[in-house]
Amino acid sequence: MRHFLTLADFTKSELLEMIDLARKIKAQTKRKEFVPYMEQQTLGMIFEKSSTRTRVSFETGIYQLGGVGLFLSSSDIQLGRGEPMKDTARVISRMVDMVMIRTFEHSKLEEFAHYSKVPVINGLTDDYHPVQLMTDYLTMLEFGKADNPVCAYVGDGNNMTHSWLMLAAKMGFELRVATPKGYECNEAIVKKALAFAKESGAKITFGNDPVEAVKGCDVVTTDTWVSMGQEDEKEIRLKAFEGYMVDEALMSHAKDDAIFLHCLPAYRGYEVSEETFEKHADVIFTEAENRLHAQKGIMVWLDNHRNDD
Ligand code: CP
Ligand code: NVA
Repeated sequence: MRHFLTLADFTKSELLEMIDLARKIKAQTKRKEFVPYMEQQTLGMIFEKSSTRTRVSFETGIYQLGGVGLFLSSSDIQLGRGEPMKDTARVISRMVDMVMIRTFEHSKLEEFAHYSKVPVINGLTDDYHPVQLMTDYLTMLEFGKADNPVCAYVGDGNNMTHSWLMLAAKMGFELRVATPKGYECNEAIVKKALAFAKESGAKITFGNDPVEAVKGCDVVTTDTWVSMGQEDEKEIRLKAFEGYMVDEALMSHAKDDAIFLHCLPAYRGYEVSEETFEKHADVIFTEAENRLHAQKGIMVWLDNHRNDD
């Protein structure tokens, strides 16, 4: 049995198998062919943080695969009143066929997975957002930007950045990260990504200059400056990130046909300008829709590998 906790746990070819499945199922979905790959299966979806895309894509996704999704907000289940994660895992995983969790510390997700009898999917932790990056790669493929791209991430060294590091390191492409001083990526995660990059040939660089990062690149991306759980730091962060907005002046340094990706929700006037966001809205909302298809690819792949050692 395999869990989907970070991209680091998979080989490039395994990740590409999930993407291929996502593309195949997307084409079927577009033809309104809902193949019941996961007939009568139940997906438990535990949320300790808010969500629009992750909830809707997993719940709709499992339904279209012939199963059913259970939305379990931590404010409604006993987890929110202090029932231990390991007990929650042992109970829920005896009743459902797969679990998706969105939580705070990555170690809580790992603890759940350790005690779970069924595959567990990371729906975002403080450290990683791997299901989003599978979506982003699918979107890059569809827009012709997955063949040796140069990508630039401008902004906070957060869960999205960490998953970008892992995607680049596994797929073997170039990624330039520009963060303000003091908001760099987690050192241990960087070290891990650079070790994978050595194997794949990925070129990953870090700096504090958005223009340097974006120069001549094919894909530009960013994320909120204030992630869930960091609301108290909002004022300090908004100051620290001044000069890091992705706007048309910054985009002018990328290739003319560069695409802009955003996992959403987007905070216009902060990490991205209204103009840049709207100019790239077609790609951004295709990316959002692709959550549905990528999630299905991941769930079906995990289901197919349920009996692996
Ligand atoms: N991108 C993303 O994960 O969105 P939600 O927080 O709405 O799920
Ligand atoms: N970095 C953001 C991503 C939201 C999808 C957060 O963790 O809130």
